[in-house]
Amino acid sequence: MDSSSSHALNESLHICSESHEDRRLYMQDKPHSAYAQLPVIYFVTPTYPRREQIPELTRLAHTLLHVPRIHWLVANDYERCDTYMDMLLNRFGIPFTHLSSPMPHKFRSTKPAPRGVANRRAALQWIRQHNLTNGVLYFGDDDNTYDLRLFSEIRQTQRVSMFPVGLIADYAVSGPVVRDGKVVAFLDSWVAGRRWPVDMAGFAVNLAYMSLYPNVNMPYKPGYEEDLFLRSIGLHIDQIEPRGMNCTEVLVWHTQTKSKKAPIVRLEKKFLDGRSNLGALFRSLKEMGVASVSDTEGPLATISKNGKGKAHSYFLS
Ligand code: UGA
Ligand code: MN
Repeated sequence: MDSSSSHALNESLHICSESHEDRRLYMQDKPHSAYAQLPVIYFVTPTYPRREQIPELTRLAHTLLHVPRIHWLVANDYERCDTYMDMLLNRFGIPFTHLSSPMPHKFRSTKPAPRGVANRRAALQWIRQHNLTNGVLYFGDDDNTYDLRLFSEIRQTQRVSMFPVGLIADYAVSGPVVRDGKVVAFLDSWVAGRRWPVDMAGFAVNLAYMSLYPNVNMPYKPGYEEDLFLRSIGLHIDQIEPRGMNCTEVLVWHTQTKSKKAPIVRLEKKFLDGRSNLGALFRSLKEMGVASVSDTEGPLATISKNGKGKAHSYFLS
């Protein structure tokens, strides 16, 4: 079937692993059971392999650990299922779904590339396949910083709620302009014709509302993902619910982590056995995509004692 004539969203879905069990006993000093009546927040996190991936997800998980009634959709921009990621996600005890959602090849080389779009489309597809019409959808990138108050603010979303995002572009903020409790305009340094000039982290959507729009979509159009997504769900400005004390508070920050290439460290493989910790340490760093070792490439690893570097054999043989 021609994808343009059917649903605009037409992703194949690759679920790597999931858990619907919440193994956390307490959240914010209350037992699990105290939250049973709350609507679920579906927190969609696009992520991709690079050396900062595991640290970012660890930090984000430690935020989400405090958030009751959450389902974490982690969509990885990777062709395969990363088993290390499965282990990591399982350890937290937060209900999650791990999707493999690689960016289509034709977009890899475009500049700018549509970052995180294949991932979010896969998550939207998962939501549709499960016929979810209860709860709240939020797109939370792996590198942002989330105030715990954000979650209580978005949980009561009736249609679409919006709020300021800190550290965006030239004004260090992007968000709605509110008068008399109503959104009347937007403050964002990059308008570019967008009707909804907001950041991905600056809104949340009620799933019952979203289900009224079967053509919900997020096209591969860098810079316009938010705008086109919000257009695809028929949003009207007077329906927007301003959050965070009428958009006076910043509850989410567009922090960005400095990215660096994973190094190759020169260290003789013959020493990476059970005689020291280094074999196991570098095997795990390799699995996380943080660093690798080589006999012949990369800067020679310095191993020192009392301020003096010595031959590897001195400590390791
Ligand atoms: C900004 C916005 O905050 C994003 O919501 C928006 O998707 C993005 O611009 C864009 O459209 O380019 P920014 O910090 O510039 O975000 O981008 P990243 O954080 O690098 O990427 C956004 C998300 O996509 C992240 O969760 C990241 O892990 C993921 N991503 C990035 C991929 O899945 N694949 C990639 O190749 C790059
Ligand atoms: Mn980012």
